[in-house]
Amino acid sequence: MPLYNINPTTTQAWKKLSERYNQTKDSHMKAQFSNDANRASDFTIQWKDFLVDYSKNRIDRKTMQLLLQLTKEVNLKDAIGKYFGAEAINQTEGRAVLHTALRAKYSDTVMVNGVNVVDEVYEVKRRIKEFTDSVISGECKGYSGKSFTDVVNIGIGGSDLGPAMVTEALKYYKNHLNVHFVSNVDGDHVQEVLRDLNPETTLFVIVSKTFTTQETLSNATTIKEWFLKSATEKDVARHFAAVSTNVAKISEFGILPANVFPMWDWIGGRFSLWSAVGISIALAVGFENFDALLGGANKMDEHFKNEDFDNNIPVVLALLSIWYNNFYGVETEAVIPYTQYLSRFSAYLQQGIMESNGKSVDRDGNRINYQSGSIVWGEPGTNAQHAFFQLMHQGTKLIPASFIGFKKSLFGNTDHHNKLMANFFAQTEALMNGKATQEVRNELEENNLSEVEIQSLLPFKVFEGNNPTNIILIDKLTPSSLGALISLFEHKIFVEGIIWNIFSYDQWGVELGKKLAEQTLKDIEGSEIEQHDASTTQLLEYFKD
Ligand code: F6P
Repeated sequence: MPLYNINPTTTQAWKKLSERYNQTKDSHMKAQFSNDANRASDFTIQWKDFLVDYSKNRIDRKTMQLLLQLTKEVNLKDAIGKYFGAEAINQTEGRAVLHTALRAKYSDTVMVNGVNVVDEVYEVKRRIKEFTDSVISGECKGYSGKSFTDVVNIGIGGSDLGPAMVTEALKYYKNHLNVHFVSNVDGDHVQEVLRDLNPETTLFVIVSKTFTTQETLSNATTIKEWFLKSATEKDVARHFAAVSTNVAKISEFGILPANVFPMWDWIGGRFSLWSAVGISIALAVGFENFDALLGGANKMDEHFKNEDFDNNIPVVLALLSIWYNNFYGVETEAVIPYTQYLSRFSAYLQQGIMESNGKSVDRDGNRINYQSGSIVWGEPGTNAQHAFFQLMHQGTKLIPASFIGFKKSLFGNTDHHNKLMANFFAQTEALMNGKATQEVRNELEENNLSEVEIQSLLPFKVFEGNNPTNIILIDKLTPSSLGALISLFEHKIFVEGIIWNIFSYDQWGVELGKKLAEQTLKDIEGSEIEQHDASTTQLLEYFKD
């Protein structure tokens, strides 16, 4: 049975939420805290090593009740059953959406076309372990008999962003292998990476679900040519591995079947880091840590699948995004991790969130008359504070933000960690409380400013506050907690897509540009320029001149 389709704006809950928005839009969170002693604890979810405090949001109990009513009217529970139950909820591509099966327990059963895919997943995991163990231990050697020192992941989109983000996030746990990423078709990117590498000790992992992606195939070909300047064709087998659903294409490249890892069409590229796409993660931090990442994601999957919605982290965070996106008309949300290790987290989320929910047609094929996916962005704090926080504090735009922090640092530098976390807490407090006129006046008076001086400075020093933040406070950045954090956002994407009545798991929108680029390349390389608009023709002529 397909997903239940309903235009969310036709639900009772939506109508009541619109009214609620009009009634409460001018309430200040500061007042809500003063009037409600239980607000902080009631709007907090504690789950394993996560504490999610969403009390600093423009909500009250009634709003939350209505948002939860919305989940009933769109049949979210049933949709979650279909998602985990391997139904073809990626309807436009006729596929199930089963990244959750990649981190399922060995005893679980997930049937696709009469086959328990968990068995296949575990067989591939066994091969990943065998392969990565032998590279890390040095048993697997390059063509000149030396052990590998470097790994290059060649892929783009989901075949790059997830592995790159996690490898960076888990750098603390890394071994001696240095993992590099080549994604952009920009030849300077690949050359920059190659220039410090020794072909004798470098392993290349080509990751492409389709094995047709222009960027990845161009980079793989350039790298192979570079490699063959020092090695022979038969050495390719030792130095290249590949991950793809397109096994036939890989053999043309000369890669040993033993070094080819399969993928399945029921995994979207942007949700694939849990599969063999994550080989570079397992190489960087070892298979045990990779498996712990999967284990953490599985725990969040269980939480999402089984927990009541009012206590369910992905559901609550998704509902809050819907509230701001669809009722406040907010366009963007920020994700600010207070750890340098998560410096690639927002870039990773951008693909997950924006490729999934950047849709304007509903599941019946009709143009939607409400906002769908929001724009996500962010940088680690405290750097972000010295960059764009001014706009969040005093600009004209409302920007809900999720702050991600950790109770413990990894190297245990208490002095630095206390300072980091003092900023984490202080920023969310400042964003909420702001600074009232009277407060600013008192401060200026204390500094003995004259009334004229006070009047001239006062408006610029006032902060309205009332800026919403979610606080995700995790015990420690470990492979397991990172897995749970990523899984949280994956499920948040799912819930939002269900409510918006869109298909979150296709990405037709990226196809047009790819096709046009093929034609444009012919125009650049050939003698003739085909029909384009006047601007493009002019630019191509200028470029070729
Ligand atoms: O950008 C579109 C896209 O299809 C992504 O969804 C995917 O992650 C990326 O291209 C790379 O695709 P592939 O893994 O097939 O090379």
